[in-house]
Formats: sequence, structure tokens, C-alpha cells
Amino acid sequence: SPRPVKKICCIGAGYVGGPTSAVIAQHNPDVAVTVVDLSEARIAAWKSTALPIYEPGLYEVVELARDGTDGRTPNFHFSTDISRTIDEADLILIAVNTPTKTVGLGAGGASDLAYVESAARHIAEVATSDKIIVEKSTVPCGTADSIREILDAHASPDVHFDILSNPEFLAEGTAINDLQKPDRILIGSLADDRGRHAAGALAQVYGSWVPQERIITINLWSSELAKLAANCMLAQRISSINSLSAICEATGANIEELAFAVGLDTRIGPKMLKSSAGFGGSCFKKDVLSLAYIAETLHLPEVSAYWKSVVDINEYQKERFAKRITKRLYNTLRLKKIAILGFAYKKNTGDTRESAAITIVGQLIAEGARIAIYDPQVSEQQIRQDLTYEHPAEVVKKQVEVFGDAISACADASAVVILTEWDEFKTDQTPDINSMDSAVRKQLVERTRRSHSASSSEGDADFRDSGFVTPAPSSSDSNPISAVVSEESRPADKRVDWV
Ligand code: UDX
Ligand code: ADP
Repeated sequence: SPRPVKKICCIGAGYVGGPTSAVIAQHNPDVAVTVVDLSEARIAAWKSTALPIYEPGLYEVVELARDGTDGRTPNFHFSTDISRTIDEADLILIAVNTPTKTVGLGAGGASDLAYVESAARHIAEVATSDKIIVEKSTVPCGTADSIREILDAHASPDVHFDILSNPEFLAEGTAINDLQKPDRILIGSLADDRGRHAAGALAQVYGSWVPQERIITINLWSSELAKLAANCMLAQRISSINSLSAICEATGANIEELAFAVGLDTRIGPKMLKSSAGFGGSCFKKDVLSLAYIAETLHLPEVSAYWKSVVDINEYQKERFAKRITKRLYNTLRLKKIAILGFAYKKNTGDTRESAAITIVGQLIAEGARIAIYDPQVSEQQIRQDLTYEHPAEVVKKQVEVFGDAISACADASAVVILTEWDEFKTDQTPDINSMDSAVRKQLVERTRRSHSASSSEGDADFRDSGFVTPAPSSSDSNPISAVVSEESRPADKRVDWV
């Protein structure tokens, strides 16, 4: 049986490396787990009570393993001494970022492996004993081979490396739950004895909390491709439902009813079928483009075009959404105030990478709107930085204001746009939103009452999902607000208006 792992080094203290290492440390009290990063600030934050990322349940796990809060010996550490931590470890997780390349060959499609490469070089340069290297970052197929080449070229010849692919499937916002109860753990290795031994050693680490039948050992290429394929198929589902939402809006079908009806087919299932203003996050777009790029380099242009269309529909959805807001406000946003509730790419995270809010708010700024933003976890600095990619800083400064709560952001707004489905934006959870003192809210409630007098009350309007817009009051009777509200038959499904 494989030699048990005693010391783990995780390179990269981000959204993947931090939570993954924390849960590994929690369940393996005999293994010392140390997370290293180039960023001193990030490491300092991980050592503090203010962790650098927001993730429900994360702090409790970190505290337990890092500080030994239940009386156990702390086994979870953070360091910027990368060289020493690498050399002392017998298993090294590479969890660095792999953004889409912005310049050079494959720009806009290929993943930028510069960080993976520099981590591999670092390992090669300092390792004086055999190591198991685990690729945890989402990487294009073939990266394990590239890592092996780098190690062979730079490492001392008497040090042996086994390279495993062990893709992470956690979703932000539910990372701890996903890590505690994973659907599966994939471990890809070479098919020789050494490879299988290394895979066995990593399987033991997971075996301390994951049932054996969920730990799957497969070949390296299958493992690397399976991770990309899973993310691409999830993104494809969302683009499918979003494309259908355009048809619903044009026909009077209701996208939620449609998704519910379709999801009841057990072969399809109900998850990841929520229509939205577009998917975001650091993975989906990058992975779809990466798969499309792989197909292109394999001379499979039809396959590449198929996957690219998933991203095209996503861009279309964001643009369509921004345009519809403009249209509902009589084609001009100049000097109108638009409240934006939620800026993160999904609820329960402070992460804004590829958030649909960036594109949508960007377009509203271009239309001349004044924007009032509130997100419970995203800092003002982050919001301004994200918006400054597309608009000059002085434009963002002039047109965008960031608020510390939803009510203030919504005051005097012509429209309230919910872009992240935070629970606090649900009316039934936050009575404050019901009593929102804005012209919009009052008009809206009025209208809801008029068109749905029997069962409507102030608490009915439901902000459940992202993508709902409360439009400005209008005198026109053909206003879709009343139409939408009166069409709803089940009170639980009642909602304001969706653009
Ligand atoms: C995703 C994968 O789910 C995860 O397995 C992988 O490891 C990393 O990428 P993540 O991006 O963190 O995780 O979140 P996810 O919940 O998948 O949501 C991604 C985006 O899709 C979000 O912007 C979300 O709002 C959107 N989404 C999700 C929808 O628009 N509709 C849905 O039904 C579900
Ligand atoms: P992910 O979402 O994939 O976890 P993040 O950007 O949140 O990505 O985290 C990646 C982390 O990896 C960053 O904190 C970055 O500083 C760190 N990093 C990148 N390259 C190296 C390296 N060669 N050595 C150590 N840390 C690195």
C-alpha cells in the first residue's frame, strides 16, 4: 500500500487552495497542511480573523484546524516561505490561478499557464526529495505532461516526481459543503505502478472523509478533460435556458414554469436551470473558451464553434438584459438613477470575476445613467476597479455611487435591478425591502394591488431571483408589470416584473 502522506504543501491561497486545504487539514489531523502564496497580504489575512475570501462556514473549519479550537493540535498553517514548505512536503497541491490569456498565441481562448509553470519551476528548483505533485487548478488537457517536462528539465535527476490530476469541483458560496460532501473525487494518474501508488496516497488523504466509492481513479487525460467537460456542460445548460428565456419573453411563456416543467424529466433534472442575466465566475467562460480552443487546435472547427456559441449566448443575454432596462425606461437613461442590488457573480460570495453585473452596469453607464450599487460582500474599491476596465475612472466616479445597504441605494431610483440573488433581497426574508421608501416601491405596490386585488399585499412582490427589475412607474395601461403580475396564478410565484 502507498506510503501515507505526512506533509502537504498547497501553492496558492485563493478560492480553490484555501478552502480545499482547510477541509483536508480538518479531516487529517495527523497531516501538516501548509498553504503558501506569493502575496504576503493574502497569507497575513489567512492567519487573521478576517480571511481574504468570504465563504459560508469557512472560518469555522479554518479556526478548528489552524488554531486547534477543540483542543486538537493545530495542523493547518500559512507561509510565504514557499521554497522551504515545498521541500519539506511529500505532496504538493498546485492551486494557482489560470486566467484566459489576454495576449499572444491563443489570446481570448487559451488558458494562461504562466502561474502553473512558475509554480512547477519553483518545485523543480528547490525539491531535494521525491514528491507527488497534484494539479488542482483547472487547466487545459495536457498540462500534466507540461508540468512533467518542466520538472524533468529543471529538477535534480535523483528526485522523482509523480504527477496527478485532481480537479476541484467546488462552487463558490457552497465551497465548504461541496468539499465536505463531494459528488466525486477524480484522481488522474499514469497507468504504471508508480502512478497508481501516487494516486493511492492521495486517495488515502480523501478517504478520511469521502466514501471510497466516490473516489475515482482514471487516466490523466480523462481527468483533465472531465473537469473541463463538467463545467462546459453546466454552462451550456444555463445558456440553453437563457436562450429559451428570450423566447418566453416574446411569447408569453414563463421561463420559471418552463424550467420547472423541463426539470421534472429525471433525465434532465432541476439543477442549473435558473434563467439569469448571464453566468459569471472565474470558471465557466474560461473553461468553455479553453475547450473551444482545444477543439480548434485539434482541427475540429465544428466542435469549437458549438462550444463558442455557449459564450456567445451568454454575452447576448447580458446585452439583452441591459437593453431591456433601457427600453423599459423609454429608451433614455440620461440622468435617471438606477439602483443595482448585488454585484457579485452569485450569492454568498464576494467574488466579482466575470460577474454579469460588470457588463450590465457598464452598458447602463454608457447610456448616461446614474448608478447606485449595493452588495453585501463586495467592497466599493472592488466595484470601482471592475467598472474601470471599460470606463475611465472619472466617468465611474461621476456616475456611480456605492451604498452600504439596499434601502439607501434604492432611494429615488427609477428602477431597481437585482443582479445577484442574495437572500436579503427576497422580500419575505427582509421586511426592510417591503417598506422601501422609494417612489418605485410605492408605485409598484399600488400597481400590484390594482391588478391583483384579491391576494396582493405589500409582502407579495417577490425578488427571489436575480434578473428581476422593478421598473419606473408608467401611465400606460399596457405596461407589462400589471400584465405579469395579473397572469401569475399561484401566489408563491408572484413577482414584480422581469426584464
Ligand atoms: C462552477 C462549477 O459549478 C463548479 O463545479 C466548478 O468547480 C467551478 O465553476 P461557480 O462558478 O463557483 O462554480 O458557481 P456556479 O454555482 O456554478 O454558478 C456559476 C454562474 O452561473 C453564476 O453566475 C450563477 O449565477 C450562474 N447560474 C447558475 C445561472 O445563471 N443559473 C443557474 O441555474 C445556476
Ligand atoms: P483560484 O480561484 O483558482 O483559487 P485565486 O486567484 O483566488 O485563484 O488564487 C490563486 C493564488 O495563487 C493567488 O493568491 C496567487 O497569488 C497565487 N499564486 C500564483 N502563482 C503562484 C506561485 N508561483 N507561487 C505561489 N503562489 C502563487
